Amino acid sequence: MTFRTLIRGGLVVTAADELHADVLVEDGRVAALAAHGSAAAESWTADRTLDATGKYVIPGGVDAHTHMELPFGGTSASDTFETGTRAAAWGGTTTIVDFAVQSVGRTLREGLDAWYAKADGKCAIDYAFHMIVSDVNEHTLKEMDALVEEGVSSFKLFMAYPGVFYSDDGRILRAMQRASGNGGLIMMHAENGIAIDVLIEQALARGETDPRHHGEVRHVLLEAEATHRAVQLARVAGAPLYVVHVSAEEAVAELAAARDKGLPVFGETCPQYLFLSTDNLAEPDFQGAKYVCSTPLRPREHQAALWRGLRTNDLQVVSTDHCPFCFKGQKELGRGDFSKIPNGLPGVENRMDLLHQAVVDGHISRRRWIEIACATPARMFGLYPRKGTVAPGSDADIVLYDPHAEQVLSAATHHMNVDYSAYEGKRITGRVDTVLSRGELVLDARQYTGRAGHGAFVHRSTCQYL
Ligand code: URP
Ligand code: ZN
Ligand code: ZN
Ligand code: ZN
Repeated sequence: MTFRTLIRGGLVVTAADELHADVLVEDGRVAALAAHGSAAAESWTADRTLDATGKYVIPGGVDAHTHMELPFGGTSASDTFETGTRAAAWGGTTTIVDFAVQSVGRTLREGLDAWYAKADGKCAIDYAFHMIVSDVNEHTLKEMDALVEEGVSSFKLFMAYPGVFYSDDGRILRAMQRASGNGGLIMMHAENGIAIDVLIEQALARGETDPRHHGEVRHVLLEAEATHRAVQLARVAGAPLYVVHVSAEEAVAELAAARDKGLPVFGETCPQYLFLSTDNLAEPDFQGAKYVCSTPLRPREHQAALWRGLRTNDLQVVSTDHCPFCFKGQKELGRGDFSKIPNGLPGVENRMDLLHQAVVDGHISRRRWIEIACATPARMFGLYPRKGTVAPGSDADIVLYDPHAEQVLSAATHHMNVDYSAYEGKRITGRVDTVLSRGELVLDARQYTGRAGHGAFVHRSTCQYL
């Protein structure tokens, strides 16, 4: 028995088009689109009809950078796969790509299996994995080939965090060479962690212990330098490169210069860098700890370069880097020493809304909103056209978005398992109304109807953005 859902009367917005169309969903996939009021659309019958009049009908968000339950900084990110994917769904995101972690001395297999186990049966929406490679060696390099086959086709390396995730340039080069042969995409945390550790030690010795010093020691030039170095290493290896959480204008310039040479170099930024700044890090009474993440928040002047990069396609993707830690008991671990504040911000629920606000504010167009939040992350990480668009054959991961609703972001009303909002009190025009994941209602006119275990692991192909 086929189950049909008809989404009627909305404005369908994809990265490519805007059209007043009705959407027919059959058994979890988009079956057809037809102009609203056309003979074809009027002939459709369905088991369930959703009235999208006055709303946008958009692909579910693809958040290509989350860290549910990440053990980090002596504690663990406070959202589980269950709470974090539920919050994602509330915010109109229907796919996450989270990071499985290889610990030093362990295999990629062990790390990946641990993450499969954490997510299995817990997720409200579909999920996939990247692999954090912390220990590049002969065995790990061989394992990378197997992971690409298994649908885990991207690998994050760190130029930061010596002694934890850090890889030196030789290891990075070897992983890039491997990726150039097996189709994997190298994702880089580009900050010079060796130099940063010196600056941390010196700052603490001077008694500079407050959260705002986190931003100072993680200098913009050390992001730009690492970005430049990563680009050159990728060039030598003949591999494409995706730089995660770009925050500094100088780093955007490095990416733009590389792209002007025609190199396959891509960049991601995050809402926190577009909407927050060092002003937040400087909030008194240790409140700045709420905004400690790496790369760090930058002075407000950097935001214009990030918005420009998003418009010119020098930056292609906005992900959240969702890595929440509660203020109480977790961020507080760093009272008296900013280097002990666990790094990361919550945001998986807020990304689609904040980027819609960017449309309202005139930073980006409506189609560019869908491109940077849905279509390009899906292409970049081998999920397209199953995810990231509304087209015949695509998974029916669809959001009915009310562009006129007004809301105020707050920890009192969000669904993320964290005791503060990085955007407390921020007014947003626009709100998610209804969410379908593979044709099933997860959010029905602001009533949560999802369930843990509906979300399935998604096997990814290699990068489709090259
Ligand atoms: O501060 C951050 N970004 N925490 C998560 C880990 C990472 O580097 O992405
Ligand atoms: Zn009608
Ligand atoms: Zn990172
Ligand atoms: Zn991250």
